[in-house]
Amino acid sequence: MEVQMRIIVLCFVMISSATDEVKNLTGAEGGSITLPDPVVELGFLSLGGKPIAMVTERKITILEEIYKDRLLLNSNTGLFTLSGLQRTDSGIYYIDSKKGRVFTSSYKLTVYESVPTPAVKVTSVSADSCTLLCLVEKAEETSLLWYKDEEIVNQSSSALSLPLTVHKQDFSSSYRCVAANPAENKTHAVHVSTSCSGQNDTATDTRHRKTDSNTEYKNMIGIAISIVATVIIILVACNIKWKYFDKRRTRQAQDAVNRGSDVEYSDIQICEDRRSQGENVQEPSGNADHSNLKTIYYKLEAQRLVPIYTDTTDVYEI
Ligand SMILES: *[C@@H]1O[C@H](CO)[C@@H](O)[C@H](O)[C@H]1NC(C)=O
Ligand SMILES: *[C@@H]1O[C@H](CO)[C@@H](O)[C@H](O)[C@H]1NC(C)=O
Ligand SMILES: *[C@@H]1O[C@H](CO)[C@@H](O)[C@H](O)[C@H]1NC(C)=O
Ligand SMILES: *[C@@H]1O[C@H](CO)[C@@H](O)[C@H](O)[C@H]1NC(C)=O
Repeated sequence: MEVQMRIIVLCFVMISSATDEVKNLTGAEGGSITLPDPVVELGFLSLGGKPIAMVTERKITILEEIYKDRLLLNSNTGLFTLSGLQRTDSGIYYIDSKKGRVFTSSYKLTVYESVPTPAVKVTSVSADSCTLLCLVEKAEETSLLWYKDEEIVNQSSSALSLPLTVHKQDFSSSYRCVAANPAENKTHAVHVSTSCSGQNDTATDTRHRKTDSNTEYKNMIGIAISIVATVIIILVACNIKWKYFDKRRTRQAQDAVNRGSDVEYSDIQICEDRRSQGENVQEPSGNADHSNLKTIYYKLEAQRLVPIYTDTTDVYEI
């Protein structure tokens, strides 16, 4: 029964394929394609001379196992859709509609590899222009096109990259690189003024960094050293200042007691005093009165102090 049917289909196919004009169809690997002519009541779909499906009353019967899950018939429209396209699906397909609307159609289906996504690099920036490079990883059957707005300004086929030089007066135009094969295309849009001005400083910088990573390393060490040095200097300065104040505090307290008069302190001149006095600072001996002094004199530099004397202890009020 099925063998008879196949023979009948084969005859239909052979008669029709001789007469009809071929419609070109393209598909992308992994994508799907819908054949544009509907079969509703009775008809056949074949690839080359080989029937692959039959339609009776809006129902499809698949005759080749490899199309079981990939070939569908939309029962409303009567259109065939082949999904999960592979390169091997390329070929000449025939539809023979034998009842209702009677016709024969043939289609040349070409399944292309999926188009690679293009990338764009800025290769050089000068005072009045910027050169962009559009790149793809594989170029088989792929064209690269540079668009300025809707106009093609450069193109190549089966090349891995395509340059474009943009002049400063065109920086605000909208540019895009399109990778395309007959089945599909992918676009990379470029904001030229941003890409190129950003590149001006940072990209040349990054290029330097890539090639001169040694220099960068040295720079980092240099920066680290100067930070450490600064910290050390600050620490030393603080230390010297503290020592100085300790000295000064002791001396002034003694002076005040000796003179027994109101004292006004002028601004402190650290350098001279530090030099004139020896390194050996007499630390106040650790009794309660001296520790009290320490706390109060802490603000010496910022404020003028007026000493007030009680009988025996040195107390200063701010
Ligand atoms: C289909 O593609 C072929 C080349 O593959 C071309 O010669 C032919 O003119 C195309 N037919 C149509 C209808 O576009
Ligand atoms: C277009 O590409 C070619 C290389 O394919 C290049 O020599 C030419 O400079 C490019 N044109 C522009 C306007 O950038
Ligand atoms: C890219 O694909 C769209 C549809 O997806 C189509 O309209 C457009 O013409 C294609 N462009 C190119 C350059 O092939
Ligand atoms: C890049 O920087 C230089 C100065 O560093 C400037 O003269 C030039 O205009 C800049 N180019 C772009 C495209 O911004």
